[in-house]
Amino acid sequence: MKFFIDTANIDQIKEAQDLGILDGVTTNPSLMAKEGITGEENIKNHYIKICEIVDGDVSAEVISTDFEGIVKEGEALAKLHDQIVVKVPMIKEGIKAIKYFSEKGIRTNCTLVFSVGQALLAAKAGATYVSPFIGRLDDISTDGLNLIEEIRLVYDNYMFETQILAASIRHTMHIIDCAKIGADVMTGPLSSIEGLLKHPLTDSGLEKFLADYNKNN
Ligand code: G3P
Repeated sequence: MKFFIDTANIDQIKEAQDLGILDGVTTNPSLMAKEGITGEENIKNHYIKICEIVDGDVSAEVISTDFEGIVKEGEALAKLHDQIVVKVPMIKEGIKAIKYFSEKGIRTNCTLVFSVGQALLAAKAGATYVSPFIGRLDDISTDGLNLIEEIRLVYDNYMFETQILAASIRHTMHIIDCAKIGADVMTGPLSSIEGLLKHPLTDSGLEKFLADYNKNN
């Protein structure tokens, strides 16, 4: 399972990279705005900066919603760095653009996916990643994990190569449940990844080991 961090915050990206388990980064226009990164040039430079910190894929989202605009923006983003994956919204024009990009060898992440039908279309168009937003489904009392399970089943039925990128991960249990289902990738905040470290028996066990060592040394 690949671990991506879902942020545009450089300190958090560096911290996750230092852990040695980071496989990539996902961003979106809201995450960029949260870090105060505005204007085309600044946004592009920020993507390059992120690519220089991490070893893996970095999703950079287009803001156009028409085919020509998505293609123009996506091609420019892909040229920034070979780690860039063009993030395209799940809309009709987006599907056309994903098909175009896949024929050109430009990798894509189809975002804002909330149904199996949408995931099926993304795979048919040749998306590299599909991003079902599980947290946002949970927010409206719909089972986000169930969507991951259904997409896994459909993709396995037809051996689609599109990777399931479980997005909108909100907490540690989301990661564990996605791993059980067989999501290829998860993207979430650093806190959700760090939660995997924690167990009270680890803490009390280590405390005892160190106390016993210190008593005798
Ligand atoms: O990767 C998608 C993600 O950014 C959405 O997360 O927490 O805003 O629903 P969230």
